[in-house]
Amino acid sequence: MNFETDILTVFDKKWALLTAGNKESFNTMTVSWGGMGTIWGKPVATVYVRTSRYTHEFMDREDYFTVSFYPEEYKKILGVLGSKSGREMDKMKDSGLTAKEAGASMTFNEAEVTLVCRKMFVQRLEPSNITDENAAKFYENDAPHDMYIGEITDIIKKPGSAGKKNFEDDHNELFVEEP
Ligand SMILES: Cc1cc2nc3c(=O)[nH]c(=O)nc-3n(C[C@H](O)[C@H](O)[C@H](O)COP(=O)(O)O)c2cc1C
Repeated sequence: MNFETDILTVFDKKWALLTAGNKESFNTMTVSWGGMGTIWGKPVATVYVRTSRYTHEFMDREDYFTVSFYPEEYKKILGVLGSKSGREMDKMKDSGLTAKEAGASMTFNEAEVTLVCRKMFVQRLEPSNITDENAAKFYENDAPHDMYIGEITDIIKKPGSAGKKNFEDDHNELFVEEP
C-alpha cells in the first residue's frame, strides 16, 4: 500500500463528503473525522456519523458508501453541506454539485478523489466507554456516533489531479480514471 497523503490532516483540514444511497435516493454530508488504514487484510476507510444525521439512515440502509475529497474552492459548499440537513434542504439543488454513480454508490463530478467503500463493520461509540473529558465535550447534549469501517473497493480519480501516483503503483486493480 502506497497512499501518499497526510492522513493526520486530510480529514481534519481538507474535509470530505460522505455519501450513501443510489441515484434515486441518496444523501451526502461533510465529515472531518475519519481514517484510512488496514484491517482484516483490506484497505479501509473509517467514518463516524452521529445517529441524528439524515445520512445515518442511508449508511444503515446501504451496503456501500463513498468518501470524496474536493479542491479548496469547494470548501464553502462543504461548509453548507455540513450545516444543513438533507431533511430540510435539497442538497443537490442548493450546492450546485453534480451527482453521479460510483460503483454501487454515489459521488460528485467535482471530486478530486472518491473512495468507494463496502460496509464491513458498524459499531456505536458508547459514551460510557469514552473518557470523561470527551464524553462531556461531545456527547452531553448530542447524539452518539456510529463508526463505519468500509473496505475500499475502488478509487476514482479525476484526471490531472495531484495524487494519481498515490495508488497507481500498488493498486492498479483499484484505480479507475474518469474519461
Ligand atoms: C467541517 C465539518 C465536519 C463535520 N464532520 C462530521 C463528522 O465527522 N461526523 C458527523 O456525524 N457530522 C459531521 N459534521 C456535521 C454534519 O455534516 C451536519 O450535521 C450535516 O448537516 C448532516 O447532514 P444530514 O442531516 O443531511 O446527514 C461536520 C460538519 C462540518 C461543517
